[in-house]
Amino acid sequence: MGEPAIKQKPVISRFFEVRLQSVVTDVPLGFDLFLLVSGNPILFRKQKDVLTSQRLHSLLSHGGQRFLVLEEQRPLYIQSLKEMVNNPETSMEVKSRYIKESAFLHVNDLFEKESVAETVKGAEILVSEMVDFVSEDVSAVANLMQLSKHDYYTYNHCVDVAVYTISLAKQLYGADREKLIQAGLGGLLHDVGKRKIDTALINKQTKLSQEEWLEIKKHPEYGQAILIDVENVPQDSKRAVYEHHENYDGTGYPNKKRGDEVCELSKIVAIADVFDALTTERSYHKAISPSEALDMMFGMQPGKFDPDLFEAFNKKFDKKANLKLLSDFDPCQAGSITRIEKK
Ligand SMILES: [Fe+2]
Ligand SMILES: [Fe+2]
Repeated sequence: MGEPAIKQKPVISRFFEVRLQSVVTDVPLGFDLFLLVSGNPILFRKQKDVLTSQRLHSLLSHGGQRFLVLEEQRPLYIQSLKEMVNNPETSMEVKSRYIKESAFLHVNDLFEKESVAETVKGAEILVSEMVDFVSEDVSAVANLMQLSKHDYYTYNHCVDVAVYTISLAKQLYGADREKLIQAGLGGLLHDVGKRKIDTALINKQTKLSQEEWLEIKKHPEYGQAILIDVENVPQDSKRAVYEHHENYDGTGYPNKKRGDEVCELSKIVAIADVFDALTTERSYHKAISPSEALDMMFGMQPGKFDPDLFEAFNKKFDKKANLKLLSDFDPCQAGSITRIEKK
């Protein structure tokens, strides 16, 4: 699994990093914006200053810069993202950015902050917004997907899995909001157990030893332990955290559960997890198209996924590509991607 720049190059702890694309332009800024120069944060725009879209484009075209906001101004930053989305003139594309950015911050906290319980409270609000967004327009999911390809990977994966999970749940349960929130939380939290695993191991791109692989495979159990006393996570979402690596034919882990021994939400998250692992660009492989990914996943049948749920997911993209994937592909193992072969 790739790692976001935030973790690779830790900056002064009083700040958090923001992606410049998410900063609202041509209106007064709601927070101070800093630029990181030779490891030092330099004030770039004061609160109430205006960053023009022209200047933003020129900054983005040069690339490489890192922008920071003071930790104490995090609520102001989140508020500015919310205002962007609530503005009726905001385009779907910009709304997608807000959802991504806000989700990214929450998931970052889920992995970094000491108290998961506290962060989960904020995640509920976020998931509720994601449910509204995914319901609003069919192009919403496509917009969110497009943003994934050049983004930080680790936390985005959880956000993307949440989006796909909500999207499939919507197809299955219609407007049952409770179910959709459960789905979103299950997707968002599914890999939270990786908090307990050394990031060097998670990011390792060479082949894992048997022992290392066994450690990675403990993350569903770690996730269950982390969430056990967290009250506001629905039971089905907790099950999805624990069961998302079980396979329909009983060949998965941690308990080799099969068929309907696994909760439906866990099976949905399992599909979303593999789909995202294949369609997201990472440092060590190019993203493949959704139809190619579905074709590969289809090749893992029968056995890997619940056939009815997979068919429902597959309906969204029915074009077949000409690629295959070995049946033991695991979305957690970076090296597995090299097993993709052209037929
Ligand atoms: Fe996982
Ligand atoms: Fe995952």
